Amino acid sequence: MTLKLIQVGLGMHGFGVAQAFVKHSPDFSYAGIVEINPARLKECAAELGVAEEFCYTDYKEAFAALEADAVFVTAASPYHYPICKAALEQGLHVLVEKPFVLEISEACELVELAKQKGLILMVSQNYRYQNHVLSLKNAIGEVGQPLFVQAQFFYDHFGKDYQQVMDNFMLLEMAVHHIDMIRYLFGSNIRSVSGKTWNIEGSMYKGHPNVQASMELDNGMPVFYLGSLVSKGLSSPWEGEWRVQCQDGSVHLGDLGQGYGVYIVDQQQNKRFISYEDGPLPDSKQGIHSVLADLAARIHDGGEPMLSGRDNLYTLAALIAFADSSERGTVKYPESYIITN
Ligand SMILES: NC(=O)c1ccc[n+]([C@@H]2O[C@H](COP(=O)([O-])OP(=O)(O)OC[C@H]3O[C@@H](n4cnc5c(N)ncnc54)[C@H](O)[C@@H]3O)[C@@H](O)[C@H]2O)c1
Repeated sequence: MTLKLIQVGLGMHGFGVAQAFVKHSPDFSYAGIVEINPARLKECAAELGVAEEFCYTDYKEAFAALEADAVFVTAASPYHYPICKAALEQGLHVLVEKPFVLEISEACELVELAKQKGLILMVSQNYRYQNHVLSLKNAIGEVGQPLFVQAQFFYDHFGKDYQQVMDNFMLLEMAVHHIDMIRYLFGSNIRSVSGKTWNIEGSMYKGHPNVQASMELDNGMPVFYLGSLVSKGLSSPWEGEWRVQCQDGSVHLGDLGQGYGVYIVDQQQNKRFISYEDGPLPDSKQGIHSVLADLAARIHDGGEPMLSGRDNLYTLAALIAFADSSERGTVKYPESYIITN
């Protein structure tokens, strides 16, 4: 029998996720949907085939009234915290889009609440289930021990209303993917960070859209990151452009001549290309397909998901540490931001 899901927030991404992933999930069917905008709710309900009696504009009413196992929070980021909290308090498992929440104290509180209630709390860091990222992870080590990493991302983004007024906009909305990738690729948390974030003249954003950061991982490896959401000109693919310098060669995610993908370059400059299609997962398991499957499996067996809220504390703390480091001009230690019992 399928598990019953309530999805909250059906904006551009939320509705896309509903159509492309939730609707096709073998594990979940809709208990109901929630969208604060009534016109949008009606439109999405019709497209998704959800009857009016299972559609709500108020998430608390929906959580109290609907028979459900879990909630998928795809509302705008500033609302993640109250929606996750209400769902957990109602005894529902939670999957929330990145960024988990906007403040590390909120994240720690939710992780504790989920633990007390014995519920699954998961963050949809879907890039961990993308072929480009999995192929990069598999390729690292093929040319010896990794020594240091450089990653960059450039895009000219037109911000949504909520993004235009968000603090730490670039960090929480976009760099969150790349910083989570760093932790995943190298199986190591970020020990220390020294960062700088900044705005540009005439920017539509209150929060800084540019970031540059140097990090040291727990395993001692240096990582250098540069990201921008206000860069006109050549833009990067969402996963960014990476060079992992290894002892006997380099591993890249980028376009070294045969299209965007993973390249392994040896000491003689021989290049091997691994395209998206050559990656380990079929289309039916890419990204949010696997996130949903993992949520269902963990609801059934009670185990901790790879993408648990607890794990995500270390991604969020690193991002907050970048912002603090920029403001204070000092080195910051992400782990010191995490307070749990
Ligand atoms: N993982 C990814 O690759 C990825 C990609 C894009 C967006 N996202 C994330 O998905 C989330 C949504 O992004 P989006 O692009 O759809 O934004 P959006 O602004 O297009 O849509 C947000 C929707 O949430 C609704 N909403 C706001 N408060 C609500 C509430 N209290 N109850 C119910 N609905 C509410 C809004 O009415 C709107 O329809 C964000 O957190 C964003 O960071 C993730």
